[in-house]
Amino acid sequence: MIQINGVTKVYKDLVAVNNLSMEIDKGDIFGFIGPNGAGKTTTIKILATLLKPTQGFALVCGYNVLTQADDVKRVMGYMPDSFGVYDDMKVWEYLDFFAAAYKIEKARRKQIIDDVLELTDLTHKKNDYVEALSRGMKQRLCLAKTLVHDPQVLLLDEPASGLDPRARIELRELLKELRNMGKTILISSHILTELADFCNSVGIIEQGNLLYAGDIKTITDRLRGARVVEVSVKEGFEQQAEDLFLSKKEVQEVEREGRTIRVHLPLDFDQEDYVTDTLVENGIKFTAVRELEIDLEDVFMKVTKGLVQ
Ligand SMILES: Nc1ncnc2c1ncn2[C@@H]1O[C@H](COP(=O)(O)OP(=O)(O)OP(=O)(O)O)[C@@H](O)[C@H]1O
Ligand SMILES: [Mg+2]
Repeated sequence: MIQINGVTKVYKDLVAVNNLSMEIDKGDIFGFIGPNGAGKTTTIKILATLLKPTQGFALVCGYNVLTQADDVKRVMGYMPDSFGVYDDMKVWEYLDFFAAAYKIEKARRKQIIDDVLELTDLTHKKNDYVEALSRGMKQRLCLAKTLVHDPQVLLLDEPASGLDPRARIELRELLKELRNMGKTILISSHILTELADFCNSVGIIEQGNLLYAGDIKTITDRLRGARVVEVSVKEGFEQQAEDLFLSKKEVQEVEREGRTIRVHLPLDFDQEDYVTDTLVENGIKFTAVRELEIDLEDVFMKVTKGLVQ
C-alpha cells in the first residue's frame, strides 16, 4: 500500500531524510518511530504529496506521489501534527468543508459527517464551535476530518501528542477499530510503548536514516538475543541460586542484584518451567518468578544507541 523508494529530502545543507526505502503492506499498522528531528514529518509530508523529495519517489496504493498526486489524495488521509485555526466554524461545518473539498456531493455529506462524528465520539459536539473544543477533542476532530473521504491509507503524524492518558487509550481503541475496518495505517510517535500493542510493524528512523523496518518480533528478538527470567529468592539463598544457574550449560548469563536473580536463556529455549523446576529441585526457596518482557522503548534505545555508534 505504501512503497518508499530511495527518498531523500535536503533542506539547504541539511539531509532531513536520507535515501529512505521501505514498504507497508495492506492492513498493516506501521509505527514510525524516531526522536525529534529524525525526519518523520518530512517523510509523511512527502507521502501526503505536500512536499517534493529531492530524490527518489513513493507510491501510495500504487499511485506515484510525484506524478499522480490527485489519485494519492483520493485514497489517502493525512492527519498533520498540528491543528490549524478555524475561527467561527462549527464542528459539523468544519467537516462539511473538508467533505466538500473532497467533492462529496451535498446529499451524502450529512450522513458521512454523522458517521465520522460517531466514530470519533464527538456527536455531542456537532454544533459547538471548533475553537471551543478541548485539545483532545480537536485531535479527534482532526482525525474525523481525515476520514470523511473514506481513505484506504491513513498517515497520522503524532496523533497522540498532547492527549491525556484517557484520551490516549480512547485513541488507541479508535485506531484498532480503523484497523478492523481494513485500513492501512502509518502512525508516527515518540511514545513507543503506546505503539507496541497494536502496531504489527515498525520503522525506526534517526537523523534521516532508517535504522530498522520490519515486524516488531524480529527486532525485539534480534536485539534481546535471550529470554530473561527474573526470580526473587528468599534471604540466604542468593549465592546458592547464582552458583546453581552459573553451573548450567543452557544458561547464557546470570545477573544478581540483592535477592533478584536474572537468568538469561537462549531465545529458542522452550522448557516452560525450567527456572522454577531447577529452584525446586535444588531446595532453593523463592517468592516470585517472571519472564521479563522487552518493550519497544528498550528496543528503541538499543537501536539508536547501540547500532548507530
Ligand atoms: N522547512 C524546513 N526547512 C529547513 N529544515 C527543515 C524544514 N522542515 C524540517 N526541517 C529539518 O529537517 C529535520 C527533520 O524534521 P522533521 O520535522 O521531519 O522531524 P520529525 O521526526 O518529524 O521530528 P519531531 O519528532 O520533532 O516532529 C529536522 O532537522 C528539521 O529541523
Ligand atoms: Mg514531526
